[in-house]
Amino acid sequence: MTDVTVDTIFEALETAGHVRYGTEAISELEHALQIADLADEMSGDPELIAGALLHDIGRVAVRQEDVSDTLVPDHMGKTNDGAKGHDTVGADLLAEIFPDRVLAGIRLHVAAKRYLCTVEPEYRDRISDGSELTLKMQGGLMDDGELEAFRAMPYADDAVQIRRWDDLAKVPGKPSRPLEHWRPLLESLMR
Ligand SMILES: [Fe+2]
Repeated sequence: MTDVTVDTIFEALETAGHVRYGTEAISELEHALQIADLADEMSGDPELIAGALLHDIGRVAVRQEDVSDTLVPDHMGKTNDGAKGHDTVGADLLAEIFPDRVLAGIRLHVAAKRYLCTVEPEYRDRISDGSELTLKMQGGLMDDGELEAFRAMPYADDAVQIRRWDDLAKVPGKPSRPLEHWRPLLESLMR
């Protein structure tokens, strides 16, 4: 996707509205809207809300042949050479239009999952079967060096927070505010 705008982002999310979110019982769009509502209710912080809403954009707005941890059945286990995680491709896609803190929420949300699974075994016990499956595709638990490197990254705490909401935003049938509700917030943050 070139010339990324709020319209092209929303189009990708609307298209993905019908795509199941991995093995979860909800769609990618429902997941994005649920986590945005949670981020709003729990923090009211525009940059966290934007990061939450867009954290999985690499699953919907990027060719899944190029996404190493894709959940699209046709591509799982047979992606292109050089494919990167959906966290990286998602953040790269939006790198020119959103501030660093929004991008960090996207770029670090998988590392945050690996971090939480490593330091809080009870957290790992609570994640969904789908998240447990992708954990292995995403590198599994962190070693001591990875833990230290993660903690030192700017906005690591924000990514951990988004990751905790991520796990709560998988409730079948839960009503959410529509995508258009978030347009002014996204536009106010764009570079
Ligand atoms: Fe997610």
